[in-house]
Amino acid sequence: MITIRSSEDLVSHLNTIPRSSSIGIVMTMGALHDGHGALIRQCASENDVTLVTMFVNPLQFAPHEDFRSYPRTPEVDSQLCREWGASILFAPEAHDVYPSSFDTHVICGVGNADRNEHSEGAYRPTFFQGVATVVAKTLALTRADRCYFGLKDAQQCAVVKRITEDLWLRCEVVLVDTQRESDGLAMSSRNTYLTESERSEASVLWKALCQGKKLWNGGMRDVGKLRDAVKQDITRHETLKLMYVSVCDRWTMQELHGHLPHDRRAVVLCVAAMLGRARLIDNIVLEQ
Ligand code: PAJ
Repeated sequence: MITIRSSEDLVSHLNTIPRSSSIGIVMTMGALHDGHGALIRQCASENDVTLVTMFVNPLQFAPHEDFRSYPRTPEVDSQLCREWGASILFAPEAHDVYPSSFDTHVICGVGNADRNEHSEGAYRPTFFQGVATVVAKTLALTRADRCYFGLKDAQQCAVVKRITEDLWLRCEVVLVDTQRESDGLAMSSRNTYLTESERSEASVLWKALCQGKKLWNGGMRDVGKLRDAVKQDITRHETLKLMYVSVCDRWTMQELHGHLPHDRRAVVLCVAAMLGRARLIDNIVLEQ
């Protein structure tokens, strides 16, 4: 595995790779765990070259958020990337990604504001603009054939799929299942913020989502009732401060209302809650 720290060096290196080789990319903010591992391993098994990026993207953090304290573990990350089969680790400096001349943002949700402003977007207004911009920039630079994203971030998946098509980025988006701890908690770099007692409560979100899916599978299509049942399951636990429960279309992120037809597809149930310092998000796809 080769580690590259500047966009210029990355382009020079990519130019040495034969055109017939397929390039897969996994974008990360570091502080790697097995969730990232699943993406990197799958990428390595499906491509000749596996490029992992590691960049804590300042553009997707609001001023009051945890940009400064976001966990940074570069040495361990580098070792893990090697073990999981990465060929290139790209860890650029912020001034390379955003030089002082930088003046372009990508906004997904021009016609359908929900992709940008619904659920996560409502609580983190500039978040998806920051994600869309760094993802578009990185795909344009690397010209990867496939990019791998985790289903844990359902709205991010919807945004990335849209921008790759809208901007003709010519990159196949591969979505990978959420990796979980043994009690169901979705793995996340921010789980390290949890104290021991908070950690023991953290699987409540996943349990509430599973309960919601059980109701759906049992035939419940009244979205209001479904939302309320999940809300109740979470708010019973006083330590969790619920932010939202959303039942929406998984690709447009539009909130669904009323009684859905039984064959309604592409529905996702998403939740977010604060637990101490940690902002936890999770989701489950509701199939027919
Ligand atoms: P980060 O949170 O580091 O996540 C990088 C990738 O790993 C994302 O595609 C995310 O969905 C995936 N991932 C995280 N936890 C996962 C889990 N438990 N199971 C499966 N996949 C998981 O998401 C970002 O960084 C940033 O927004 C980024 C896309 C890098 C842009 O800055």
